[in-house]
Amino acid sequence: GAGALVVVGSLNVDSTSYVAAFPEPGETVTAHGFAVALGGKGSNQAVAAHVAGAAVELVARIGDDTSGDFALAALSRFGLPLGAIERVPDVPTGVAQITVADSGENTVIVTPGANAALTPVVVDAEREHLAGASLVLTQGELPVATIDRLAEVASAARVRFVLNLAPPAPVSPSTLAVCDPLVVNEHEARAVGVGTDVPAEASLDTWSSLAADAVGRLARSVVITLGAAGAVAASADGTWAVAAPKVDAVDSTGAGDGFTGTLAAFLAEGRPLDEAVRVAVAAGSLAVQARGTVDSYAPRAAVLAAAGLID
Ligand code: RIB
Ligand code: NA
Repeated sequence: GAGALVVVGSLNVDSTSYVAAFPEPGETVTAHGFAVALGGKGSNQAVAAHVAGAAVELVARIGDDTSGDFALAALSRFGLPLGAIERVPDVPTGVAQITVADSGENTVIVTPGANAALTPVVVDAEREHLAGASLVLTQGELPVATIDRLAEVASAARVRFVLNLAPPAPVSPSTLAVCDPLVVNEHEARAVGVGTDVPAEASLDTWSSLAADAVGRLARSVVITLGAAGAVAASADGTWAVAAPKVDAVDSTGAGDGFTGTLAAFLAEGRPLDEAVRVAVAAGSLAVQARGTVDSYAPRAAVLAAAGLID
């Protein structure tokens, strides 16, 4: 369809402490910085797709609390429409407690709260809306039954379905089968049976042949993100490896969401998978070089320039 890129996804408020090094169990450390920001993989990817130039609609659930107010204000500052975000009484807005170490690594604890209200009933209620979408995007943070229903509704309407299976979730094989692409990191790839036997330091070439092998068997197309190394992709049209530039990582929180949101935005424009992956690698690489999650997503022109492409 020619409609919006619809993200049905999680929305959290992230509380991030910046520390020299992670505490051990039982240890207390003093942070050297703290920030409260919009988060949740669904919301982050919606912002990334919007920043990349797509018309985006985010279907999400928040609590009737001040975190919910904070999230709506942040989304409207970015210019996202708020019409499909509803408040759920008597539950908190989803929250993520994040720790970022000086190494650039992070730990994350998510408490879903209102996100649990994104049930299959919500997908059914949005059926018309989804049928007119240019692309439907979701993530592993939603209830499994909701992801499965979304895949059914999108494929019945012949709308491109993109699933970022983060974190890994036991979705049905028929859901994976319609993913175009399934977007996973190394860990999530192994959770769906791709690369279970390869070592942690396997090359881009190893991963690209694994992605190629999963096309048709597991999903319509597959994208595997490999952090600082880059990403690989495979579809019926070919297999690609895209190396990431060497950069100094400052904060990798949400960089994967920057990648996926950007990828979805360019696919929704009708760009080929290999080109969308090149742009997404550039977006992820820019995002790790700045502090924060949604605030570290670079504008479309900067991302295209970093990818060596122009509009
Ligand atoms: O991918 C990063 C996101 O994961 C954070 O914003 C946090 O909310 C968790 O959902
Ligand atoms: Na960042």
